[in-house]
Amino acid sequence: MCNTKVMNSSGLNFYIDEIARLKREKNAIILAHYYQTADIQDIADFVGDSLALSQKAAANNADIILFAGVKFMAETAKILSPEKKVLLPDMLAGCSLADSCTEDEFKKFKEDNPGRTVITYVNSTTEIKAMSDIICTSSNAAKIVESLPADEKIIFAPDRNLGNYILNLTGRDIKVWNGTCHVHEEFSLEAILTLKKENQDAKIIVHPECEFPVRMIADFIGSTAALLEYTKKDDSNVYIIATEAGIIHQMKKANPEKTFIAAPPRDSTCGCSECNFMKLITIEKIYKCLLNEDPQIFINEGLMDQARIPIKRMLDMSSKLNI
Ligand code: 13P
Ligand code: SF4
Repeated sequence: MCNTKVMNSSGLNFYIDEIARLKREKNAIILAHYYQTADIQDIADFVGDSLALSQKAAANNADIILFAGVKFMAETAKILSPEKKVLLPDMLAGCSLADSCTEDEFKKFKEDNPGRTVITYVNSTTEIKAMSDIICTSSNAAKIVESLPADEKIIFAPDRNLGNYILNLTGRDIKVWNGTCHVHEEFSLEAILTLKKENQDAKIIVHPECEFPVRMIADFIGSTAALLEYTKKDDSNVYIIATEAGIIHQMKKANPEKTFIAAPPRDSTCGCSECNFMKLITIEKIYKCLLNEDPQIFINEGLMDQARIPIKRMLDMSSKLNI
């Protein structure tokens, strides 16, 4: 479902100026995910994928972090910087993937598959992170799995497509939790193939959260940051993008001469591939949130301490692996 609303330029300029003033006065920074709308990406202090955002959240000098993204991302920032105020402009900005893995069911899954190292995608609740050994993102998941001893048995949660992608890539013994993201699951193989027929020179580039048939026809598979890098280095002129369409803003900025076509979902009235949770964040809500310092992320300290261990493990492993 497409939630993006267009604001007139004087309204937009008011919010841009006020947000800049509030950021200065409050020593605040805005971290934005690539799936945010273009206007939000353009006012952010830092725009990145889930890994880069958690690295940035762990190392900055701000007193306030305003997260333009979804709740699990803001919670990760709070866990990594508990002394800071972490703001999320709309607490309803959840994630269908994180919601697909509940604490009780995951506890049972772990009990049914004992003796396995639990690697959990950052797109999960704090409770699930606290039950995990290592957190990963789509940028580092394969390298983290490969860095473990070859005979280590693994549980991967919650995304089944990313989990199966890593299983096929590494050949490791992995039990995969059956969760999915409603955006990446929805891409239509038929519509992508039709687009490819109409644009025969186009490269199909795909996020690993997409289903197997869509991954099968990809010229390149990678996290949002890896897809963006690919468009900078590759010499094609047209790309079909199978991930949330927000990333196309950065692709166009980096490659103004190239054409980017959003892969269409199976079922959508507007034909766009947007995450309705990500798109709950607006410039107006960012302004109000920064002004009132509300809504703010609060997490029980004991739970945060537990969840911090596997997140820090990911950050340490990523820096050793140079990711
Ligand atoms: P990355 O930021 O790791 O590419 O993940 C995409 C995603 O689904 C974030 O919600
Ligand atoms: Fe969650 Fe998918 Fe939206 Fe990412 S794109 S926040 S995984 S629902």
